[in-house]
Amino acid sequence: MIVALLNQKGGVGKTTLALHLAGQWAAKGCSVTLIDADPQGSALDWSEQRSREGLPRLFGTVGLARDTLHREAPELARNCDHVVIDGPPRVAGLMRSALLAADLVLIPVQPSPLDGWASAEMLALLTEARIYRPGLQARFILNRCGARTVIARDTADALADHDPPVLRTAIGQRVVFADAARTGRLAAEIDSACPAAREIAALTDEIDGLGIGRVTP
Ligand SMILES: Nc1ncnc2c1ncn2[C@@H]1O[C@H](COP(=O)(O)OP(=O)(O)O)[C@@H](O)[C@H]1O
Ligand SMILES: [Mg+2]
Repeated sequence: MIVALLNQKGGVGKTTLALHLAGQWAAKGCSVTLIDADPQGSALDWSEQRSREGLPRLFGTVGLARDTLHREAPELARNCDHVVIDGPPRVAGLMRSALLAADLVLIPVQPSPLDGWASAEMLALLTEARIYRPGLQARFILNRCGARTVIARDTADALADHDPPVLRTAIGQRVVFADAARTGRLAAEIDSACPAAREIAALTDEIDGLGIGRVTP
């Protein structure tokens, strides 16, 4: 399956969630390739930091910030169980290409009034991609939920039939993610029992439970 983390907004958690999903699948024994489609290369930086620290490689990371992604990602997907695409900021050709490559699009959003979640432009690109790939799935994922996580959860329940639907697993505002980004580690490697690690495990299980396979173009 090819999963793309997409949102034209920066700082919503695309890179954080891409790295942690890839790491969690790898920990479950899957072979995983992470595509860094952001020209800024933060996922590549994380991988380099990781090797500088002498930590074992969990998954392969490739930089592919170009709009031939929809041709190259399926090639990579042939040789592993999961491809995770850390998407670019801004709506552009790169975003369109990532949408055409993906079987599942995850849109990280911070719980806030609904209309700020994803731009009309991005949702229009999603609709456009579905003309070519009607099976393309999309979900919102609530990230950086604060002390009012209970409210966020209620919101998620209320929005379960929103299009795209909202995943039930929400990720809290957790300082450990910042430490993970800085040190080339995953939250679970810093503290295997921390809430962040549990949330990532639950998120991965929920996605596995969706039963999404490769969408035939
Ligand atoms: N759930 C979270 N809790 C705390 N900090 C987070 C969380 N998700 C992301 N961050 C932090 O927010 C910043 C932006 O996240 P990042 O994943 O780089 O977003 P994007 O890739 O969408 O620009 C980073 O410093 C990251 O560590
Ligand atoms: Mg990023």
